[in-house]
Amino acid sequence: MKLNSVLFSTALLSVSNVAQAWSPTNGYAPATVDCADDINIIRAADGLSESESNWVAKRDAVTQAALKTFLTRATAKFTDNSLLNSLFSESSNVPRVAIAASGGGYSATFGDAGMVAAMDDRTDGANEHGLGGLLQGTTYLAAISGGSWFTSTVVFNNWTSVQDIINQMGDNDGSIWDIEQSALTPGGSDTAFTNQRFENISSALSEKSAAGFPTSLADVWGLAFSYYFFPSLPEGGIGYTWSTIQDTDVFQNAEMPYLIQLGKAQIPGAVSVDFNSPTIEVTPYEFGSWEPSIKSFAEIKFLGTEVSNGIPTTPGKCVEGFDNVNFMIGTCTNLIEYVEQANSAYYNAIIDQLATLFLGNSSKSADRTLAIYSPNPFKDTTNYESGSDTTFVTDDKLLLVDGGIDGQVIPFIPVMKQEREVDVVFALDQTADADDKFPNGDSLVYTYERQFTEAGKYDAFPYVPDIESFVELGLNKKPVFFGCDASNMTNLRYVPPVLVYLPNVAYSYASNISTLQLSFTAEERLDLIRNGFEAATMGNFTQDPEFLGCVGCAVMRRKQEKLGLEWPEECQQCFTNYCWDGSTKADIKNTTSIANNTSTSTTTTTDGLNYTTILTTIDSDAMSTIHFETSTTITCHECEEATPAPSIAYVTSTAECEENADWDVRAITTISCGDEERIQSNTHKYTTVSSLITTTEVCTECAEVEAQATAVTSGNANGDNNNDNDKYTYGTGSKTSTNEHTEEAVSKSDAQSNVSSVTIPTVLQVTTDIPSQAGSSQYSVIVNENAANNMGIQHLLASVVALGLFIGLS
Ligand SMILES: *[C@@H]1O[C@H](CO)[C@@H](O)[C@H](O)[C@H]1NC(C)=O
Ligand SMILES: *[C@@H]1O[C@H](CO)[C@@H](O)[C@H](O)[C@H]1NC(C)=O
Ligand SMILES: *[C@@H]1O[C@H](CO)[C@@H](O)[C@H](O)[C@H]1NC(C)=O
Ligand SMILES: *[C@@H]1O[C@H](CO)[C@@H](O)[C@H](O)[C@H]1NC(C)=O
Ligand SMILES: *[C@@H]1O[C@H](CO)[C@@H](O)[C@H](O)[C@H]1NC(C)=O
Ligand SMILES: *[C@@H]1O[C@H](CO)[C@@H](O)[C@H](O)[C@H]1NC(C)=O
Ligand SMILES: *[C@@H]1O[C@H](CO)[C@@H](O)[C@H](O)[C@H]1NC(C)=O
Ligand SMILES: *[C@@H]1O[C@H](CO)[C@@H](O)[C@H](O)[C@H]1NC(C)=O
Ligand SMILES: *[C@@H]1O[C@H](CO)[C@@H](O)[C@H](O)[C@H]1NC(C)=O
Ligand SMILES: *[C@@H]1O[C@H](CO)[C@@H](O)[C@H](O)[C@H]1NC(C)=O
Ligand SMILES: *[C@@H]1O[C@H](CO)[C@@H](O)[C@H](O)[C@H]1NC(C)=O
Repeated sequence: MKLNSVLFSTALLSVSNVAQAWSPTNGYAPATVDCADDINIIRAADGLSESESNWVAKRDAVTQAALKTFLTRATAKFTDNSLLNSLFSESSNVPRVAIAASGGGYSATFGDAGMVAAMDDRTDGANEHGLGGLLQGTTYLAAISGGSWFTSTVVFNNWTSVQDIINQMGDNDGSIWDIEQSALTPGGSDTAFTNQRFENISSALSEKSAAGFPTSLADVWGLAFSYYFFPSLPEGGIGYTWSTIQDTDVFQNAEMPYLIQLGKAQIPGAVSVDFNSPTIEVTPYEFGSWEPSIKSFAEIKFLGTEVSNGIPTTPGKCVEGFDNVNFMIGTCTNLIEYVEQANSAYYNAIIDQLATLFLGNSSKSADRTLAIYSPNPFKDTTNYESGSDTTFVTDDKLLLVDGGIDGQVIPFIPVMKQEREVDVVFALDQTADADDKFPNGDSLVYTYERQFTEAGKYDAFPYVPDIESFVELGLNKKPVFFGCDASNMTNLRYVPPVLVYLPNVAYSYASNISTLQLSFTAEERLDLIRNGFEAATMGNFTQDPEFLGCVGCAVMRRKQEKLGLEWPEECQQCFTNYCWDGSTKADIKNTTSIANNTSTSTTTTTDGLNYTTILTTIDSDAMSTIHFETSTTITCHECEEATPAPSIAYVTSTAECEENADWDVRAITTISCGDEERIQSNTHKYTTVSSLITTTEVCTECAEVEAQATAVTSGNANGDNNNDNDKYTYGTGSKTSTNEHTEEAVSKSDAQSNVSSVTIPTVLQVTTDIPSQAGSSQYSVIVNENAANNMGIQHLLASVVALGLFIGLS
């Protein structure tokens, strides 16, 4: 970035703005207007506002028709349509849908845009190979940070469509989202342009300060970025107010969902926010928080009015224009403090320079990175709960940051609220918290955990696994439904909506991009949007033609449960495929996938036994989802001399098939090898064989060398994955025995037969090379051919492959 030089070369001029817009000043500065003498701009957060309730009632009529169309298409192939018919026979039975669009910088803006486009019947292809119409059936659209950039763009451009934006997308032509140049260097090499832009921003700030309202870098942030969202408006909508939305036809006719964007209030002097910092909702009518330390909502239109317990300190006088769209966007995407805390000398220098450039003598102010709401709309309010921190109602100012800074980067809180009666939440996850900058599910985990804290004590959120399990189970690699069964959530405060999780996954584009990348070419933007479309639709349904119907099932689920209606068998199947079943990483230990075998060969041992060896290459990413444990395999094959065999460390893992549960006994056998075979042991040719029934192979002439097959008795036949049952530790020969987990039945054989009984191998033991290479690792799978013949090796492989697909390894 050439920001430094640009900044230092900037000379500030004072430009007076004459913008045509909606603020009383037609510019960025708020102004005092007349209002009713008895106005109170605050209400207690004891339910939805009347405005919202009335509006939603209007929206319900619109979504009902749209959902009927969508669900009819989604379930067209179902054998039984009685569920659909029952739901639409009564308007109160119609499901309510919400979308929660995550943050994650511009990359989230475009990923969210692509996913929402997939649900929008105005998008090319969305009604053929997408979820077209679902957006028209959506009641709430919540967003955080980069997601707010997306939602603000479409909402404040008269609810335009992503398709419309795509149709005019270009570089350096002033179209919406033309961010070929970063907002921090808007002119690129054209420093005159940059200077002019910064002068415009600077004079906007001066006007606001001159009107008596403190400014900060959050204002700068909002103003600088909005040029790219509202390019057709004077100076990027310099005088555009948030509450203007109330007057638009699309809103009044309830043709769009109800927008909710989130900020977090930070205690003055604190360095950051956490779960207990109040979450602030910014909606078409209101600004406020449900949480204990505020528990009030202010009329958004009158933000900036100096009030005491909601009543203007000057009766009959209110402020308007404080709710500037640019400022509200700047607030909800204000991660400047967060960037500052990353402690990068580079970014800190930029922040210092921006502060010097734009904030004049407040450039060193402690609040310079925070969105300053002064006067504080909640001043002297009494709705907060006793025992909570009173700062937010006593301080003269309220300080806000991006709603995702506490780690909850998907805006679940508002759409999971019991009061909003949502049945299904589509969570679009564009966060980049895994090492490879794809999502790792952490936002779900944080919001899940928050419900057990003070701030979340009125909320409910479905069960999710821990972050590590999330990744290891591959739940971040394809759509997953959480909270599928209301009956399993009776311990929560109330039954939360079904959560349809749609993570950013690379389909046609490497969509794992840093949150801090601030410039994208039109091509990159289109790539991200297209990829988002594909990620929301299982690759336009190519990965699963049933996915459309499955989304329909998720939408209908809560009402179906509530009304006790018949659950279609297609939905049953969908839920088997897409619902998280409660398992965690503990349950997938020792599972692996052999989805991509590259060669199969048959080996005949010196005993004349045949083994099939399948050599498979899996990449190291897939490896990371397997738990490897080292065990020791020792030889005993034709070991007349009973030489203590060398200990060879192998890494073993077991792929477990569903049939397991039906069997009682599982066992692993260690097969030995002679001296010459020891050499071969690097290729693991004779390592292990397993089946449900003990498959024992022991040496003949070596009484003192015992081959042990450890049989583990499964204590449960009900499908539950009990760890202990999956533990196979075995050792043979004269050396190590590592049977610490065997519960019983170490069968010692004194060499009767080479192979004893064999049955369908529903447990497949895989012995792998230690996956030390960065690129790939080979491992071999040895299946006792006798067993394989019984079941058909292909079938076996198919089950394992299916498992691999489920856990996302293929
Ligand atoms: C999926 O559909 C979108 C929207 O119609 C389209 O842009 C994209 O090219 C499609 N992807 C594939 C792989 O067909
Ligand atoms: C907003 O969109 C609606 C429907 O698309 C259209 O009829 C109306 O003219 C638009 N209004 C403005 C101000 O662009
Ligand atoms: C600065 O504002 C003026 C109008 O006030 C506008 O014409 C001009 O395009 C703006 N310049 C930049 C670079 O944004
Ligand atoms: C500096 O701050 C003071 C009050 O804090 C204010 O009166 C003055 O106008 C400011 N100066 C500039 C150049 O902004
Ligand atoms: C994106 O993902 C690919 C594949 O996992 C990885 O190779 C690449 O390093 C990732 N990019 C970033 C920026 O992490
Ligand atoms: C079912 O509820 C239990 C807690 O009662 C929870 O541990 C488990 O994860 C839930 N299962 C699912 C699939 O949500
Ligand atoms: C299987 O391996 C081949 C060759 O390494 C590779 O091209 C192909 O994409 C792999 N297929 C799967 C499903 O991993
Ligand atoms: C594994 O390899 C065998 C033989 O080469 C082949 O028949 C089979 O289809 C392959 N299986 C998979 C899952 O690639
Ligand atoms: C092992 O394979 C060889 C050659 O394929 C065959 O001749 C022999 O009969 C097989 N042995 C057994 C025990 O199946
Ligand atoms: C995985 O397999 C290894 C070796 O067979 C065993 O030691 C370990 O206990 C197993 N882990 C689980 C969780 O079953
Ligand atoms: C077991 O091994 C012995 C000696 O190696 C051999 O004679 C015998 O045929 C083998 N038994 C079977 C069932 O393969």
